[in-house]
Amino acid sequence: MHRGKGMKFVGDSRVKDMQHRKPNIPKDYSEYPGKTEAFWPNFLLKEWMVGAVFLIGYLCLTAAHPSPLERMADPTDSGYIPLPDWYFLFLYQLLKYEYVSGDYTVLGAVVIPGLAFGALLLAPWLDTGKERKPSRRPVATGLMLLAIIATVYLTWESVDQHDWEAAAKQGAIIEHEIDDTAEGYEIYASQSCIGCHGNQMEGGSAGYALFETGLSVDEIKEIVTNGRGAMPPGMFEGSEEELEILAKFIANDGQAE
Ligand code: HEC
Repeated sequence: MHRGKGMKFVGDSRVKDMQHRKPNIPKDYSEYPGKTEAFWPNFLLKEWMVGAVFLIGYLCLTAAHPSPLERMADPTDSGYIPLPDWYFLFLYQLLKYEYVSGDYTVLGAVVIPGLAFGALLLAPWLDTGKERKPSRRPVATGLMLLAIIATVYLTWESVDQHDWEAAAKQGAIIEHEIDDTAEGYEIYASQSCIGCHGNQMEGGSAGYALFETGLSVDEIKEIVTNGRGAMPPGMFEGSEEELEILAKFIANDGQAE
């Protein structure tokens, strides 16, 4: 008895079954003499070449267009307006309209996108017609066109409405570095200062950056105690000693000494 004789390859699509031959089962490879090729190295080499072209293409693209990085995320800055990536801008824009935001957020965030993407997912079951020509499938074609127009329009609107100048300012990377292990920083962080002047003293939505203020230690103590302009008085709750350390820390642009 030969090895493997009588063995059946269950589930192998190439096993012929002439009686119940289904039209969508491909013919055996042996029926295309001269048209087959070895997997190794011929086929694999071709695959690798295509892969290399894409890899080098992406490499050039990332070198030519580096990621638009912003400063480190600051959870204390509630004034920062985040913007999603371009492919989500239409959903982001949708949430700005009256009846899909606020009390109706669920409608804009879950129901409408759910219906749209759900319908796309279920399309093969919803639309069982035999027609393939777009002009013979008015409902499917119409809905698809509507979706494309809505997506393009919403994306366009959101780019148009975004305040790019303010965003560039908000996200700007500030070159200063502060010593957040210094005692002065500990005091700074334990008071309310961060809320207005930011995690890294970079300023935020409500306050000013505390770099290169040109203020003396005494002037800083005076502002912190009595406030100035939009900064309310009494923001510091600590000892005289701590105030001195904090003021020196700020006067030193965020360094201990
Ligand atoms: C409610 C928000 C708020 C808080 C909290 C706050 N500040 Fe201010 N701070 C401001 C604003 C606004 C200004 C700008 C004042 C002006 O318009 O003259 C300012 C200005 C300053 C200045 C002067 C900056 C300059 O360049 O002239 C210093 C120093 C300062 N703050 C330190 C502190 C310290 C230290 C704390 C924590 C104890 C603190 N601030 C807490 C809002 C705040």
